Amino acid sequence: MASCQTADGVALGVGAVAALETDVTVSLDRVKSFIEPRLDAAIADSPDGAARLLESMRYALLAPGKRLRPALAIWAASSCGGHWEAAAPAAIAVEMVHAYSLVHDDLPAMDDDDLRRGRPTCHRAFDEATAILCGDALLALAFETLAEGLPADVAGQGCLMLARAAGGSALVGGQADDLAAERGWITPMTTASTDEQVAWLERIHRRKTGALFSAALELGALSAGATPEQRHALASYGRSFGLAFQIADDLLDAEGTEAAVGKRVGKDADRGKLTYPTIIGVEASRARGTALAIEAAAAVASLGEPATELTRLAHWIVSRNH
Ligand code: IPE
Ligand code: IPE
Ligand code: MG
Ligand code: MG
Ligand code: MG
Repeated sequence: MASCQTADGVALGVGAVAALETDVTVSLDRVKSFIEPRLDAAIADSPDGAARLLESMRYALLAPGKRLRPALAIWAASSCGGHWEAAAPAAIAVEMVHAYSLVHDDLPAMDDDDLRRGRPTCHRAFDEATAILCGDALLALAFETLAEGLPADVAGQGCLMLARAAGGSALVGGQADDLAAERGWITPMTTASTDEQVAWLERIHRRKTGALFSAALELGALSAGATPEQRHALASYGRSFGLAFQIADDLLDAEGTEAAVGKRVGKDADRGKLTYPTIIGVEASRARGTALAIEAAAAVASLGEPATELTRLAHWIVSRNH
């Protein structure tokens, strides 16, 4: 897809982009090997769950996702001298919140999608009521996982971070505004200036998707006992990373293939949704994504070599095809 650039803004050649793809794939595969058995165990350990409900939770949670949020939690921790095992409750909890948000996002009352992570959506594989309950249970299990898994002296703080990122002022609020704009419940932005439209779109994206990425990083830092300077660097990385991710998501919807992306493409245009490509065009969106990836990488430069995975991920996020 997009070209890649180094932190000095030099465009990377085809070979360097391929090397980045290989490096990030290997790194994300390590995170998957670490986290997926733990996600599976978290469902298996749920006592007294109804069989169909547990099956739907496992289906939604273990479907093949990129595991970006667990990776951010784990790599934020390791960038601050922390250990993967200590970051595991944070990594599991953020993926549970993410999986729940996808199940509900795909429901007929919301985006009404049939394909997710290359498979039928949860309400298609099961039924609508089970998908609603599956999301409810995954959200609750995320907080249970954090409350039980984090050391007692920071568990309350961790739960507060996740609650703020998941709630009505962040993820759910962003989803609500996204729907409100699409369905004409608020004044349409179509006559506003380009700058106003971009500001409005970024406000939605920062809450809808950015807040959970930031929470993953913050929770990883919390598990590592990070210093205020380290947390500041990660927060700044998260702001740029989240927007870069969403620009790429919008571009993939406009230009990606269903086979690679694992979800229906072209749906934003069908719904007349305002996205980066529709507001500023494909080339400008790509350039903005690249600039944000460079900003993200610069934000964690002070963390040195241990932040290499985060730096690579920022560049990859805008060049990916899925
Ligand atoms: C997709 O997120 C949904 C959005 C937040 C836009 P990802 O692209 O991280 O999805 P998975 O986890 O890899 O399926
Ligand atoms: C989903 O946004 C965001 C959340 C689930 C919080 P989208 O509706 O744009 O995501 P996709 O494109 O369906 O993955
Ligand atoms: Mg949606
Ligand atoms: Mg959707
Ligand atoms: Mg999308």
